[in-house]
Amino acid sequence: MTETGALFSPFQLKDVTLRNRIAIPPMCQYRATDGMVNEWHEVHYTSLGRGGAGLVIVEATAVSPEGRITPHCAGIWNDEQAAALAKVAKGIKAGGAVPGIQIAHAGRKASANIPWEGDDHIMDNSRGWETIAPSAVAFGANLPKVPKAMSIEEINRVKNDFVNAARRARDAGFEWLELHFAHGYLAQSFFSVHANQRTDQYGGDFAGRSRFLLETLAAVREVWPENLPLTARFGVIEYDGRDEETLAESIELIKLFRNNGLDMVNVSVGFSTPNATIPWGSAFLAPVAQRVRQEANLPVASSWGIDDPVVANKTVADGQLDLVMIGRAHLANPNWPYQAAQALKLDRPAWVLPAPYAHWLERYKR
Ligand SMILES: Cc1cc2nc3c(=O)[nH]c(=O)nc-3n(C[C@H](O)[C@H](O)[C@H](O)COP(=O)(O)O)c2cc1C
Repeated sequence: MTETGALFSPFQLKDVTLRNRIAIPPMCQYRATDGMVNEWHEVHYTSLGRGGAGLVIVEATAVSPEGRITPHCAGIWNDEQAAALAKVAKGIKAGGAVPGIQIAHAGRKASANIPWEGDDHIMDNSRGWETIAPSAVAFGANLPKVPKAMSIEEINRVKNDFVNAARRARDAGFEWLELHFAHGYLAQSFFSVHANQRTDQYGGDFAGRSRFLLETLAAVREVWPENLPLTARFGVIEYDGRDEETLAESIELIKLFRNNGLDMVNVSVGFSTPNATIPWGSAFLAPVAQRVRQEANLPVASSWGIDDPVVANKTVADGQLDLVMIGRAHLANPNWPYQAAQALKLDRPAWVLPAPYAHWLERYKR
């Protein structure tokens, strides 16, 4: 692999081969109704699939109604929703990208207004809903709603919701599954000392706080095809002053994920507390991801502030990331990968430009 070609080298995980190392991370569109995706999502995701990235992961898609972040988030708790999502998967695939989906439960951060209507909790349950979490502890700041502490029956029900969602995603044609174990949502809350104050087998020590995540992963692995990648987005660090301790625990958990059938981890931030000081900056999480990659011995993806092709290429060439997740830059320009290939001065074959476009570009040269 030439150094400048690192970003555009293919990547294989299980039986899936991505045409390059550029992946589009899940990004909520806040345009679903009762969890149903629609023409907006079809057009949006189809354009991302045709834009040149190797992998497109559909936004956080709730495994149950109360697992949605906002009333306009996507869902996959019934067959009708799955049928609508199948069209989205087909559109992504038509453009040559691999269709992925993130399945999620928002826990104590659920029942919120969409970002451009405040991003805060909807306190009125006629429009919002009762939230659930490991313990009756609110996130705080703009999300003050106190969740209901989950009973063992509710824990089992939500694990089962993840399994049913995975089965539906498989049947809808998705070839890459990402479990949302990050960003202060339900699974991350079970692991985080900021949210989990349980004294039963789902709280307390490392084993207790890891149990919900490990059991959910194991149950999903049973239904998700062995030959397709099963991944998780996981917040490995909170930037809350306990960073070394959290990171060390996170890496131990990722080793257990690996032993339980996880194929890759999408390294992210925990966002479990509003009292964090996050060192925002270009590719700030890449060195953390590299440490996870080395110590947990698992392929890693990561995002946050990577929108420069040279920086993106370097994270792969330097062995920091296996996949580079490029989010907001793709919202601004779905064709970011083609422009990145040009910026890196790569030959056309390395861009994996789809045939019709390659043909016409050749013709225009004459
Ligand atoms: C509009 C928007 C929606 C997002 N929705 C999700 C989501 O559904 N799931 C998730 O794990 N992250 C979500 N994120 C975070 C992105 O996946 C990504 O990590 C973040 O934008 C940082 O990457 P970037 O700097 O390349 O944009 C969202 C980000 C944005 C901007």
